Amino acid sequence: MIKKKIAEKQLIIASSNGGKVKEFRQLLQNFPVVVISKPRELQVDETGKTFAENARLKALAVAKATGHWSLADDSGLSVDALAGAPGVLSSRYADSDSGRIARLLSEMATSKDRRAHFSAALCIASPNNEVLLEVMGRCEGFITNAPRGHGGFGYDPIFEVESTGLTFAEMGHKKKQELGHRGRAFALLEPVLQSLLTFRQ
Ligand code: IMP
Repeated sequence: MIKKKIAEKQLIIASSNGGKVKEFRQLLQNFPVVVISKPRELQVDETGKTFAENARLKALAVAKATGHWSLADDSGLSVDALAGAPGVLSSRYADSDSGRIARLLSEMATSKDRRAHFSAALCIASPNNEVLLEVMGRCEGFITNAPRGHGGFGYDPIFEVESTGLTFAEMGHKKKQELGHRGRAFALLEPVLQSLLTFRQ
């Protein structure tokens, strides 16, 4: 079998969140890329109305500023009974994870419709203002009546994944990756990134 030799490429993760960069480094460990986090001082305002718009904004801005390909993500929780809120405002819904959970549960206190979903948008852009790849992952579920489980982060304890009976906080990391929105988006990204790296050197 002839294997095409692929030079390692720098890929700047458009986030200064250490956890996210670590997660992407793990997911990308078999790719010929050097994963680097964006410079801390480079801040991009998330002014988009959708997860996809925000991911695109961040990837394009960071690629332009650094001169390298950039990978950005934007994610959040959308609740049917709240007309899609908190949505793109998920991280800004209150000052802390416990505050965000308390606010959401109180807004849902009288709601019988508990349906909700997590979304994750991923975008890779090049320094010449080109969007190279965009994918979306989604995970369906329900808002619980009270927090359950101790794993994960954010809204994990109050989001029960459809057909599992478990919240994200009650399942192991591997299971969350398999069923979760980010894992699903990444599974879509993988083959496209592989061919981009092969043909767009
Ligand atoms: P981002 O960093 O702008 O993508 O913020 C996404 C926000 O949505 C996070 O701060 C969390 O509040 C929430 N979020 C996104 N993904 C998850 C998840 O997998 N579990 C729990 N909360 C999440």
